[in-house]
Amino acid sequence: MEIVVSGIRPTGDLHLGNYFGALKNFLKMQYENNCYFFIADYHSLTTHPTPADLHGNVKRVLVNYLAAGLDPEAACIYVQSDIPQVTELYLLLNMNAYKGELERVASFKEKIRTQPDNVNAGLLTYPTLMAADVIIHKAHKVPVGKDQEQHLEMARTFANRFNRLYKVDYFIEPVAYNFGEELIKIPGLDGSTKMSKSDNENSCIYLGDSAEAIRKKVMKAVSDQGPTEPNQPKAQAVENLFNLMKAVSAEDTLNHFNDLYNTCQIRYGDMKKQLAEDLVIFTAPFRERILELSDDNAYLHKVATQGAEKARESASKTIKEVREIIGFRAF
Ligand code: TYM
Repeated sequence: MEIVVSGIRPTGDLHLGNYFGALKNFLKMQYENNCYFFIADYHSLTTHPTPADLHGNVKRVLVNYLAAGLDPEAACIYVQSDIPQVTELYLLLNMNAYKGELERVASFKEKIRTQPDNVNAGLLTYPTLMAADVIIHKAHKVPVGKDQEQHLEMARTFANRFNRLYKVDYFIEPVAYNFGEELIKIPGLDGSTKMSKSDNENSCIYLGDSAEAIRKKVMKAVSDQGPTEPNQPKAQAVENLFNLMKAVSAEDTLNHFNDLYNTCQIRYGDMKKQLAEDLVIFTAPFRERILELSDDNAYLHKVATQGAEKARESASKTIKEVREIIGFRAF
């Protein structure tokens, strides 16, 4: 049985990128593997949420996980900050993580560019905390979207470095994984290649969105003037609409609009209307369950408590062994 670990930062409802990138295929594997799925609330502190926002967003993600179909009886669902052992491993890994390699990570360089006034140590050491999340359970596989590939490479680097430094064969190499499929990147509605809340809230479709919100956002999605010659290559924004359609619509629908595009007869208004309706149908069951679960605080408490217990058990075992390997010994 393989160990599978993944997490999502709490920023509110999950969007389609989170769902298709990290969750959808995880749902399939939860019954066949030893799965851990957590809410990365320590990671979210780099953006300085208020206490109320932090708590509200953690709850939102927990509700979304359950609404999406994570089964707490199969997978261990927990909140990262309920497992203090993660921070100990983070500290230990940081002693062997070098400034140069951390500064070269693409996501860090991007943050320097987009938020130069808040380049904090948490951002620099984001990959060490992420490595700790994964190797604390000795994970084999980590279901994530394409944007997390480099972070997983760092996790392998830190795991191997620990083994070499202490001359042990203790940590295994975790790999980014999407259940036999390519790692994916769901595009945004704003023409960008990645649906991302931090880049543009309106580029995201959330699992909890109302039908009206979906229609409004999709109708405003970026497209172009339309093709002027048959089989013209698609502009990025148009390619994005087709990719979103590929994710949620029937194959016939996708082929229909592709044919219209290739014969210069496409009307983006019609395509967007269809995409919006398909998105409404796709998200409706999630939204319904999100509404049901949001008021069930007793159930959420039970799930989080039970998850924390199981995750702590696994994490404590690792920390105990790691401390022994490093040489922390009792007198
Ligand atoms: P986060 O919160 O940015 O995103 C959570 C997951 O959703 C995936 N994702 C996407 N996949 C495809 N297309 C998109 N547009 C898209 N947007 C987001 C991400 O790839 C990710 O899998 N560092 C992580 C959270 C984390 C973690 C971990 C993940 C912390 N520790 C340990 C795995 C293992 C993050 O910020 O993801």
